[in-house]
Amino acid sequence: MLAGLVLLEALSILLFAVLLISRQASEVHERARLRLGHQATSMALQASEALRQQRPGWVGLSVTMMGETPGVRLAKVTDPAGNVLFASAGEPDEMRLDPAERAQIPLKNPKEPTVFDFAGNRMESVDAIYTHSDLRGYAWVETDRAWDYEQLNTIERGTEIFGVIWVLASALLVLLMARAISRPLAILHRGTRALMLSPDNESSFPLPVTVHNEFGDLIEAFNRMVASIKEQRAGLNNTLSLLDSMLANAPIGLAFFDRNCRFVRVNDVFAGMTGVPINSHLGRTLPEVVPAAVAGQLEESVQRVFATEAPVRDVELNGKRGRLNLPWTWLVSAYPVRTRPDEVRWTGVIVLDATERKRSEEALRRTEKLAATGRLAASIAHEINNPLEAVTNLLFLLKNYCQLEGSALEYATLAELEVKRIAEITQQTLRFYRQSTLPARATMAELLDSLLSLYHVRLNALAIQLTKKFDAELDLYCFAGEVRQVIANLLVNAMDAMPGGGRLQVRARRSRRWNEPGTEGVRITVADTGLGMDAEVQERIFEAFFTTKDVTGTGLGLWVSHEIILKHHGLVHVRSRAAESGKSSGTVFQIFFPDNQDLAGQGTQATGARTTVPAAV
Ligand SMILES: Nc1ncnc2c1ncn2[C@@H]1O[C@H](COP(=O)(O)OP(=O)(O)OP(=O)(O)O)[C@@H](O)[C@H]1O
Ligand SMILES: [Mg+2]
Repeated sequence: MLAGLVLLEALSILLFAVLLISRQASEVHERARLRLGHQATSMALQASEALRQQRPGWVGLSVTMMGETPGVRLAKVTDPAGNVLFASAGEPDEMRLDPAERAQIPLKNPKEPTVFDFAGNRMESVDAIYTHSDLRGYAWVETDRAWDYEQLNTIERGTEIFGVIWVLASALLVLLMARAISRPLAILHRGTRALMLSPDNESSFPLPVTVHNEFGDLIEAFNRMVASIKEQRAGLNNTLSLLDSMLANAPIGLAFFDRNCRFVRVNDVFAGMTGVPINSHLGRTLPEVVPAAVAGQLEESVQRVFATEAPVRDVELNGKRGRLNLPWTWLVSAYPVRTRPDEVRWTGVIVLDATERKRSEEALRRTEKLAATGRLAASIAHEINNPLEAVTNLLFLLKNYCQLEGSALEYATLAELEVKRIAEITQQTLRFYRQSTLPARATMAELLDSLLSLYHVRLNALAIQLTKKFDAELDLYCFAGEVRQVIANLLVNAMDAMPGGGRLQVRARRSRRWNEPGTEGVRITVADTGLGMDAEVQERIFEAFFTTKDVTGTGLGLWVSHEIILKHHGLVHVRSRAAESGKSSGTVFQIFFPDNQDLAGQGTQATGARTTVPAAV
């Protein structure tokens, strides 16, 4: 812009110079004409005076003097016919008149001089010489154009020098202006652009203050403004980071919706709950992400918040998820998010996965019920024991009654046997409830047999073929009640897995620890040909409350068993194959209990685990 200003200035100066010079040229020309006219008239008057005084020689003198005058190239005097009488320069061709000069004679106005131009850019004037109204000749004066041009050149040079000085002064002024105005403006412009293109790039700031004027103040103010924006942005970033980390790490699901019930933002926990990647939520509606029934209920809460501008709290949503169709429960609260006091922009939804809590409540209720049933069974068994003892004694007396013989004796013997079985059952029921809280050496055969006889009826009803393999001598130092509980859980699970019958194998033998062959102990194997489990189920079987049995299972059996095995420093190993076409399915549980375990001091924990016995059995 400033360069343009200088150019404009130079052009103006040039135009001014051209106008000035052309005006000067015409003025010089005009002045030359006037001068020439006066010179011709003065020479004519001098000649006329000389002739009147009869001194023609003075005419020649006057011509010579005129020839010497600055600006005169040639002066001459002719007779009325145009023949040169006197001339200031003696060139032969100048001793006669040029045809152009001669052509002026008939046109000559006697009263005033005639000035005329002719060939070769020459200018000349002529005036008539009269003595007492007699025409005696003509006085001719030709100007020296070089002299005129020199004058013009002087003016031209002066104008040029003035122009150059003017342009240089202008350039200097422009330079000073550039320093004072344009540079700071350019710096401000650069700074603004840098700020717009990359607001986070701080390398361009603060801008240099190159001048100490209003523009310098402006740059300083700009620097202060940028610094304050940066400070504010840093504060905002801190707040955002705080909110982001809260959103990312809060152990609850958080989601935000716009008025069309589209996801605006969700956190990791919410994405984990829906099973959809976090970014795939944005811009999508609820039915596109969660099952329709749940989406409907959730949408209703969101719409209600937008309509009433008031929070909605603790709405319980239930559904089923996964390939195993496991039930889940969400506890949802929704609240309005305002960006202006008078406008609800989004609705925030807090989702709490209450599935585990609900299941544990349910399990606890059922466990309590089963524990109560167990206690009832124990007290009934206890009450039956007394009359049973009397009946046993009476049957013994009856059998030994001497008059009894034949089939009556046989019936009494049979009755005695059945009563013995009843006594055994009541004993076993009581034993479950009153198990020892101290570790002791237990005979495996007795432990396993007592369990299997308890499930005898169910095994028969399900047409399950039982194979037993264990030494009568095999024993183990353990909490017998708890080990029984573990085996009972495995047996019940095996029976549950074979609703249409199958084979069940129960084995116990001396063995060594798999990963430490130096450690000896007892290995118990429970194998079934039931439905088996796929990898996904196998991975979760020891989790508390994991069950595939809907209402009949609490999902605590294996979890409790695992805890008991750990308590005995044992190991559990599972192999299973789910039913697939053409392949047999089944499950094998192997448990290793080491010998000589240090179980002292763990007795109190044993009572805690005991409460789940009825549940497992
Ligand atoms: N022998 C088995 N065959 C097939 N699946 C099994 C077997 N044993 C365990 N499972 C699977 O492991 C899950 C967890 O078993 P667990 O004993 O812990 O709970 P549950 O049997 O479902 O309920 P409960 O608390 O009444 O025992 C079962 O729901 C079942 O899916
Ligand atoms: Mg079970």
